[in-house]
Amino acid sequence: MRFIIIYLTTSFGVISADEKCFRAAVYEGPGISDGLECANQEISKNLEVFEYVAKEASTNKAQIIVYPEYGLLPREDRTKTERYGEIITDKIGTVNPCNKPEEFAKQQIQLRLSCAAKKNHIFIVAHLAEVEYCDSKKKSSDCPADGRYQYNTAIAFNSEGFIVAKYRKNHLFGESDCFDWPKKQEYSTFDTPFGRIGLLICFDSLFKQPAFGLINEKQVTTLAMPTWWINEYPFLVAHQFQQSFAIAQNINYLAANGNDKSLATTGSGIYNGIRGAAIYKYKSKAQVGTLLISTISVNASDISASCEQNSRDIPIEIQKTSSKSSSALSPSGDEYHLYYNNLDKLNKIKLNERTGEVNICKDKVCCQLSYSTNDATFKRKNSYFVGVGHGIRVMQQGHWCEEMCLVYAFNETNNAFALSDSTEFDRIKLSGTFTAETIYPSLVSDDLKLVPTCQWNYKPSDNKCLIESTSKIKLISASLYGRCFQRDPPLHRLAQT
Ligand SMILES: *[C@@H]1O[C@H](CO)[C@@H](O)[C@H](O)[C@H]1NC(C)=O
Ligand SMILES: *[C@@H]1O[C@H](CO)[C@@H](O)[C@H](O)[C@H]1NC(C)=O
Repeated sequence: MRFIIIYLTTSFGVISADEKCFRAAVYEGPGISDGLECANQEISKNLEVFEYVAKEASTNKAQIIVYPEYGLLPREDRTKTERYGEIITDKIGTVNPCNKPEEFAKQQIQLRLSCAAKKNHIFIVAHLAEVEYCDSKKKSSDCPADGRYQYNTAIAFNSEGFIVAKYRKNHLFGESDCFDWPKKQEYSTFDTPFGRIGLLICFDSLFKQPAFGLINEKQVTTLAMPTWWINEYPFLVAHQFQQSFAIAQNINYLAANGNDKSLATTGSGIYNGIRGAAIYKYKSKAQVGTLLISTISVNASDISASCEQNSRDIPIEIQKTSSKSSSALSPSGDEYHLYYNNLDKLNKIKLNERTGEVNICKDKVCCQLSYSTNDATFKRKNSYFVGVGHGIRVMQQGHWCEEMCLVYAFNETNNAFALSDSTEFDRIKLSGTFTAETIYPSLVSDDLKLVPTCQWNYKPSDNKCLIESTSKIKLISASLYGRCFQRDPPLHRLAQT
């Protein structure tokens, strides 16, 4: 059957009904780290897992797989990172490492991923350290003193094994002790039978570029993102923000997170524009990888596409290969770690009635809530607040402008966000007025689950956005998170200074 479709499409240009849908996979897994005694062996062990996962994805009919950032190599300093690095060709689209194994004998990542793509007939997006040697003695050269550039790079292979894209991370997240900032901002895309794919890495997704250029100028239909995302409630938990991003941009989004429990990096998924998550996962076990697979429409805006998701969540056992394996990093095993946004910037009002309306502003940002809760559950446990705020977020790793409007469950006994056992809302309407250009909506229920998008509506407009639901929801937060890109401090290169 498969051959017939390929034959028809390539020979006669017939569009089969299947082409409105495609099957995607993301892998969330802990990288195996041996403590740097032998970078080659360490990468080889991780590649073994990646190869196994590619085969498994292909067996489950996935056409593309995305692997996490730092899935093959650990987060290390500049000198150590070189040992994991590889030179990547600039001749994108013409080089197939699997067809030239001798030439690529010293670039095992590219060789083996290219072969995994070819053998399993699957597109691959992965993350690696790119090294580019340069002459630091040359005058007028900005070549670093150690004679090489190092980039945090995503690489893509097509289903025949050709290198079809490389992308250098634009927004390093406190990584300039090991990676250089790319000299210019580039858009990186590749075409597939299932649309045009654009590449992003992790922290990039919080910024305007390259994401918006990929979507609006390059007309990508899907963004693929290796990430190593540190969870922060109530706006930036990995799976929460991934879905918000897909909805706000109405774009397909394949996000593969690392799984390092101690750093709260778990949360991956396959998202289909405003339809939200086709599948997501955020509490995978330590030492176990997770392969997520689902079928979504090629074009998120195409409402005529109706795809049978057939989602799969396949656990991948990672062998403990050494006493210094990454389990050493996660002493608390399967515990789920989460950081919290310090909501000091917010103006807040507590909800005292079972049903009501609240209006609250901070400067030009306003938040309006109209709600009704189930009588029996209201205030039985947690309190609820409406908050509104804005400001420049200052972290060591980066600065950005944010505006927020939210309603959230709060435990006043321990003065902390409540994440479970929450009140049931019958109706909620949360609207915000912003100066921000882009608003990311989200509704989170008991235990950080995403409220299914069929239970709520999101209506964005120029400066006023609205979340509305009349379903019964055990709500822990509903939020509108604004990114005021125009007031972002200039792309700073902090750690270089
Ligand atoms: C996606 O579908 C929409 C609605 O049919 C259409 O306007 C748009 O051009 C399509 N995008 C691409 C990249 O084909
Ligand atoms: C609130 O925090 C206190 C103290 O940690 C805890 O005993 C209580 O169970 C919490 N309440 C809810 C509803 O989770």
